Amino acid sequence: MNILTATAELTPIAQAGGLGDVAAFLPREFEKLGHNSIIVLPKYRSIDINKWGFKNTHKTIIVQMGYWNEYALLWEGTLPNSNVKVYLVEHNGYFDRAGIYGDPIEFGDNDRRFIFFSKAIFEVCKALGFKPDIIHAHDFHTAFTMAFLKEFYRSDPMFSNTAGVYTIHNLAYQGKFNPDTALLYSGIPLSKFQPYSPYEYYGMVNAMKVGIMMADKITTVSPTYAQEIRWSYFGEGLDGVINSRAADFIGILNGIDYDEWNPATDKYISYNYNFGEFQIKSQNKYKLLRDYGLDEGDNLDLPLISMVTRLTDQKGVDLVMARLEELLSHQNFRFFLLGSGNYNYENFFRYLSQRFPKNALNYIGYNAALSHQVIAASDFFLMPSRFEPCGLTQMYSLRYGTIPIARQTGGIADSVFEYDYNYQSGNGFTFWQYNADDMAYAISRALSIYNNQPHWNKIRENAMSHNLAASTTASKYLEVYNWAKEKI
Ligand code: ADP
Ligand code: GLC
Repeated sequence: MNILTATAELTPIAQAGGLGDVAAFLPREFEKLGHNSIIVLPKYRSIDINKWGFKNTHKTIIVQMGYWNEYALLWEGTLPNSNVKVYLVEHNGYFDRAGIYGDPIEFGDNDRRFIFFSKAIFEVCKALGFKPDIIHAHDFHTAFTMAFLKEFYRSDPMFSNTAGVYTIHNLAYQGKFNPDTALLYSGIPLSKFQPYSPYEYYGMVNAMKVGIMMADKITTVSPTYAQEIRWSYFGEGLDGVINSRAADFIGILNGIDYDEWNPATDKYISYNYNFGEFQIKSQNKYKLLRDYGLDEGDNLDLPLISMVTRLTDQKGVDLVMARLEELLSHQNFRFFLLGSGNYNYENFFRYLSQRFPKNALNYIGYNAALSHQVIAASDFFLMPSRFEPCGLTQMYSLRYGTIPIARQTGGIADSVFEYDYNYQSGNGFTFWQYNADDMAYAISRALSIYNNQPHWNKIRENAMSHNLAASTTASKYLEVYNWAKEKI
């Protein structure tokens, strides 16, 4: 199959969260299964053209916005650790600026930037002579591809056999736009802006709704989240829209790239380890702590709980703020935060490190190498998410024998299971109510298994042997692609 992935993020080239990881592992797996798959991404200023080996194709594409044309230049490169071609769309007015979406305040012209990019996808295909069987769009940034396919391009022989698949990674970000501008940029007539139409949502254009309504098949990133968002509590105002497409909607649990996240070969960590080699694993903890100025006199063996996360409401940081200080005062453990985002949250962790200089460590910022080191070094991984469409970090942790302490929601509920001392089954500690006391209790349960043999080894073995292979995920997507093709 010819598969085109349209995405706003791609790990390791341009990443803000888990979207980038998924946009990379799926095409890598498709390639292994013999499919012809390409990725199209905006050429952001932050992309290091030389480091990733991108070359100017000297091909110009012409993108028809409303009544005018815009131009872009096409760059070609390869996704690291694969032969998958990556195309960057260069338009400096839109993408030659700091950041991907605008952080913390989204860029005011995100409608124009991403509608332009979504239309450019089709022109990229034409410029390359790439006739896609599937255009797979991820999240609201590329949702308009689903509309453009149906409105403008299906009649073109290049796209007459193309089906559209749309994946919801996070309903919290929908792309709610001013109809006067969004429809103008899309070239979709205002007469289509009618109640119950794909283009109207409470007087706005909602890109996420457009994607859901116009795709041939819709997926989201875990079976539990697929259930949750059909109810208003998790549906972020789109539960009705999702229910209207229920017959074409399915949840597929993300997997993880076993080459990228493998403790035995990980190039970012100092001490590689295999299944069950927990002595070696703990060397990574000592190394991290020494890097942060601690030494043998500081009892490097204390249990280490970490978080690696965007600091947003989604991730349950308010629960952590409510109880972590008290827990650190009374219980014997160490905490490491790697994260950035909301300024107040960042400041809380700075404060915590001042209060407990040896027991609360932090790195405020984004650092891919450190994320591997922290996950390898830690004993436990804290993830008290308010909601979590899938969550990759708890899966990376499992693979590294780092035990999740996590809230049972979305993809966490599909991957982390409470340890049972009788059956010696389960791979983590969980809580269900969004409540700081329940989180604190889960942390206490976790701390009490530390060094408690045989359970401490058993839970880590269970974690490391949990199957999270991206290949399983990719084959489920291929099945959805086939269903989508049947709808043409
Ligand atoms: P989300 O996409 O909601 O942020 P996921 O768990 O799916 O949550 O994915 C988060 C991804 O971003 C993971 O690959 C994680 O390692 C990475 N990440 C998040 N924050 C940081 C950070 N501060 N430094 C490095 N990597 C980070
Ligand atoms: C989103 C979600 C996260 C998910 C990721 C990849 O960013 O917040 O839970 O793992 O997308 O699908």
